[in-house]
Order: sequence, then structure tokens, then C-alpha cells
Amino acid sequence: MPATVVIGTQWGDEGKGKMTDLLSKEMQVVVRYQGGHNAGHTIVVDGETFALQLLPSGVLYPFITPVIGNGVVVEPKILIEEMDRLTARGVDCSRLVVSGSAHLVMPYHQEIDALTERYLGKNRLGTTKRGIGPAYADKASRIGLRVQDLLDPKIFRQKLDVVLKEKNLVLAKVYNRLGLSADDIARAYLDEYAPRLAPHIGDAVGLVHDTLAAGGGVLLEGAQATFLDLDHGTYPFVTSSNPVAGGACTGAGIGPRYISRVVGVAKAYVTRVGAGPFPTEIFGPEGDFIVEKGREFGVNTGRRRRPGWFDAVMMRHAVRLNSVDELVVTKLDILDTFPTLEVCVAYEAGGCRYESMPWHQSVLHDVTPVYERLPGWQSDTSGCMLESDLPKAALDYLDFLSEQSGVPISYVGVGPGRDQIIRYSGR
Ligand code: GDP
Ligand code: IMO
Ligand code: MG
Repeated sequence: MPATVVIGTQWGDEGKGKMTDLLSKEMQVVVRYQGGHNAGHTIVVDGETFALQLLPSGVLYPFITPVIGNGVVVEPKILIEEMDRLTARGVDCSRLVVSGSAHLVMPYHQEIDALTERYLGKNRLGTTKRGIGPAYADKASRIGLRVQDLLDPKIFRQKLDVVLKEKNLVLAKVYNRLGLSADDIARAYLDEYAPRLAPHIGDAVGLVHDTLAAGGGVLLEGAQATFLDLDHGTYPFVTSSNPVAGGACTGAGIGPRYISRVVGVAKAYVTRVGAGPFPTEIFGPEGDFIVEKGREFGVNTGRRRRPGWFDAVMMRHAVRLNSVDELVVTKLDILDTFPTLEVCVAYEAGGCRYESMPWHQSVLHDVTPVYERLPGWQSDTSGCMLESDLPKAALDYLDFLSEQSGVPISYVGVGPGRDQIIRYSGR
């Protein structure tokens, strides 16, 4: 069985965790391929909420081997705490495999992330301050420490001593901060975290390929989303990895020919956390209503997410960038009470009409969305279990999103619960 990728098509928090959980039923291995503990993926099972940061969302099933791929940056303390929390709730995390090639998030990464944001002042990106950008920067600069280094104390210490010398200079001379102690870091990472993680560290690429070769299902779970992608997002208001489907190849160690299905997850509207352009952002009471009803607050940071109308221009671009085969539209229920809904079908800027994403970002900062208004359904969809249970105006809305995006909708979310998702075929 070839691999399936689940990606976010907007600015994150589309409901990837819930969709990964659903698709995991047909899989054997679920791999997180990028990002780190900046992610927050929620799954609600029988009223119980699981908010995952580093563990793949398939972890809740006993038949799944959860894998943290080489493309992820791993904060070991957070990972151990997450495993302990799940274990205490009866979830078996013993099968977890962490790629030895994944990079480690170090204490100086988190400190530098927070300091850089402060230093940027009003130009800050609104990062999660988890050290994600600095960790990927060190990976690219070839001074990062990797998960496999936890198994080799001598190498770990050598690398740490070299890199910390530079980091402490930056902390002291640029930010006027006290340096960090290599002994303290080594004690925590080597004496505390390494023994806990050692049984899980291994050959993630080999496992994925063995599973594929044996005909097993492999699901590649994206974190963040297309417009937070380092290359294709609204730079610099992006994360420092490649959430797009192509990132699944590098981040899990498989070639593109293994991927047969790309599932794009989208909210029935849009949200974004942190700074950056957002053409369809809704200010005022309608936006506040979406935030309140949709509980649009970050899973980890608690920050308010900015709400906006569905943006078909972005979606068409996301479909291209990821080769999306099918769209999963979540949170339809949040729009239940609106008398009318807006969908952005094009942008206007400088006397030009843009049906596709302007390649120059200065244009994006200045666009006026062109909206199509659709009637709302004004009835409760949260109890709907079949496509035929959905009101006609909701079906019309979904079909319009599908037509505008250029891909079929395969599932529709009508609530946070594991079962509140409807198989959809459209008309
Ligand atoms: P992820 O980062 O893409 O996995 O998404 P998050 O978990 O950060 O945010 C999605 C939120 O919406 C979570 O609180 C989910 O429980 C919730 N959710 C997912 N699908 C639906 C849906 O169809 N309706 C409603 N009301 N909530 C949903
Ligand atoms: P999931 O996987 C939404 C945003 C941050 C910030 C930018 C850079 O739950 O969808 P970073 O800490 O990554 O350097 O921050 O990216 N961001 C997310 N927004 N959902 C996420 O993850 C996010 N992870 C990062 O808010 O704007
Ligand atoms: Mg999230």
C-alpha cells in the first residue's frame, strides 16, 4: 500500500490531528515529518481531549507504530512529558520510533527564539517561542545536535562545547544575557533524557520502507500548513520547515513515487495565529463569534486565532503546491447560524484582478478580496451523520468550495468528536 499524506491547506489548526486519527484506522505506521512542539493537534475521543505536540496523531491506536521522522525538531523533555501524560491516561507509547537523524531543540534555541521576537518589537513574527526557527537554522548551518548524539555522550559533549561557545557569545554580547552552562545541559540531556529516549531511537527510514515493501499503510502527518511553509508561505511570517506534501518526502525519507494520496485539510473558514498578511480577515462581531464558537485559541500557547472567510485563491494555490487529491472541510458547524457567508473568489489590487496567488508578496499585503455571498443554512449540523442529513444550503456551500478549489471534498467535519465527520461525495 503506498503512502498517504495529510497536510494543512491554510495557516494551521485545520483539524489535521483529527483527520490523521481517522485515517490511521487503515494504517500501520504514522509519521510526523516536520515541525516540532510548535504544533498542537487535537483529537477528541468519547468526550476526552488529547492535545498532541510531538507524537503523531495515530498514537492512540494500539496497532499503529508512531514515528517521529528525521525532518522533525525534537525537544526531548517535552516529548518525554507528552509520553508520560499519555501513558498515565492508558495510551501505550512504547512502540514510538524516533529517527536518529532528527535534530534536537536545545535550551539556547528557545531562549534565542524569545529574545529575537523581543528584539524585533513591532516587527515580530509571533512565533510560538519554542525554539523551532533557531533549531532549524542550526541544522542548516550544520551545527545542530541530533537525536542520535544522545546515544554517544562524547560526541554530544564535543558538539555542545563548540556550539555553546558561540551561543553564549551571542547571548552575552547581543542580548546582554547570562550564558548557559554546558554541564547543566549535558546533565539534563545525557543523564535524564537519553536513558528515557534510548529505547525509541532508531532507523525510522528503514521502518517506513519495510512497511511499504510489505504492503502496509503509511500515513505522513503534516504539522503547520501550506501558508506557513518556509518556501511557499507568507515569508517571513512562516515557520522554519516545509509542511507542504513535498516536505513529507525529505522529512520521512521516501521518494515522491511512494505517495499515492494527498489529503488537504481546510476549515470551512480560515484562521491564522501570529502576524502576517491575511486578506480575508474578519474584524468585528462576526469574527469574534467565530473565535468564541470555534474555540479559536492556540492548543499550546492559548493565543487567540485571527478569523477570516474561506479564501479560494489561497486554496487553489495550496492544491497546486501539494498536489491535493481531496479536501477535508472541517468546522462546518461553526458557521451554522450565519444568515449569509462570504467566500473569496479573487483578489483585486492596483486595478488588476488576481484569480491565482500573486507571486509578489507586496501585492498580497494590499489586496482587496472579491467575495461571492452565499446563503447560510441557519440550522444545527453538529448532529448530522450522513451527507443527506446536511441542509441544502450547506451542501451548496460545500459544493461551491469544491468547485472553486478544483478538488472534490471527501469528508466534512461537524464537531470536534471522533465521530463528528461525514463522508462526502458532493453533487
Ligand atoms: P490541527 O493543528 O490541524 O490538528 O488542529 P487543532 O487541533 O489545533 O485545532 C482544531 C480544533 O478544532 C480542535 O480543537 C479540534 O478538536 C476542533 N475540531 C476539529 N474538527 C472540528 C469540526 O469539524 N467541528 C468543530 N466544532 N471542531 C472541530
Ligand atoms: P499546527 O500543527 C498554527 C505559527 C506561529 C507563527 C509562525 C512561526 O497545530 O497547525 P514558529 O514557532 O513555528 O517559528 O512560529 O507559525 N505556527 C502555527 N500556527 N498552527 C500551528 O501548528 C503552528 N505552528 C507554528 O503562530 O505565526
Ligand atoms: Mg493545531
